[in-house]
Amino acid sequence: MKKLYVNPLPIRIWHWTNAAGFVLLMLTGLQIRYLDQVQLVSFKTAVVAHNWVGFVLIADYFLWLGFYLFTGTIKVYAPELSPAKYLRQLRYYGYGIFRGDHDPHQVSIDHKFNPLQGMTYLMVMAVIVPVQFFTGLLLWDIARFSSMVEMFGGVRIVDMVHVIFFIFLTGFFFLHPFLSSLSDTPWAHYKAMITGYEEVEDEAAPS
Ligand code: HEM
Repeated sequence: MKKLYVNPLPIRIWHWTNAAGFVLLMLTGLQIRYLDQVQLVSFKTAVVAHNWVGFVLIADYFLWLGFYLFTGTIKVYAPELSPAKYLRQLRYYGYGIFRGDHDPHQVSIDHKFNPLQGMTYLMVMAVIVPVQFFTGLLLWDIARFSSMVEMFGGVRIVDMVHVIFFIFLTGFFFLHPFLSSLSDTPWAHYKAMITGYEEVEDEAAPS
């Protein structure tokens, strides 16, 4: 076995700050949206906390983006182009894992994600999260951004997009930790997101 340094410190700081912030955003967001059913803190506290945590996570997002752009390692997010590799990974999740097969994806510095992970993370980080932050920013001060809100079809449309992406991200939040545990050893990716290092077999064929 050898150890690969796949998650440098800025990525780990971004990730766990983001995960903790998401819990707060989901809870305060639920209270703001479903005031009748969810009353964790006062409405005002929920709104203030939602706004502040939102700004912290926007800054955190730029830590993630800045790290990948300035180090030139953003290529780990380049989508896999071979459909066969997506099918191979799906087959593994679908039944190979139950027969004790090895994960067909071999982690390397340039290919730390399997094709399905890579595509999902790309969609989340390049589309869903930025749109969520952007719509959140518009809703934070509708008067200030009124011309932009109108350009996107009005406050109802902006709000609808924010809520639909909230539902998607909440689903992702619960599914992603589970999917991250599906590999040869359940904790390998977790350890890598805590220590930075992932253990991989010496002789495994490249993915
Ligand atoms: C309690 C909540 C969470 C847990 C336990 C968790 C766990 C993990 C683990 C174990 C990994 C490493 C697996 C891998 O490299 O694929 C990972 C990576 C990742 N997670 Fe999470 N996660 C959580 C929340 C989130 C949230 C809320 C988001 C985004 C909205 C997110 C986005 C990502 C991304 C984009 C990566 C790849 C990071 C990179 O190396 O660039 N995670 N997560």
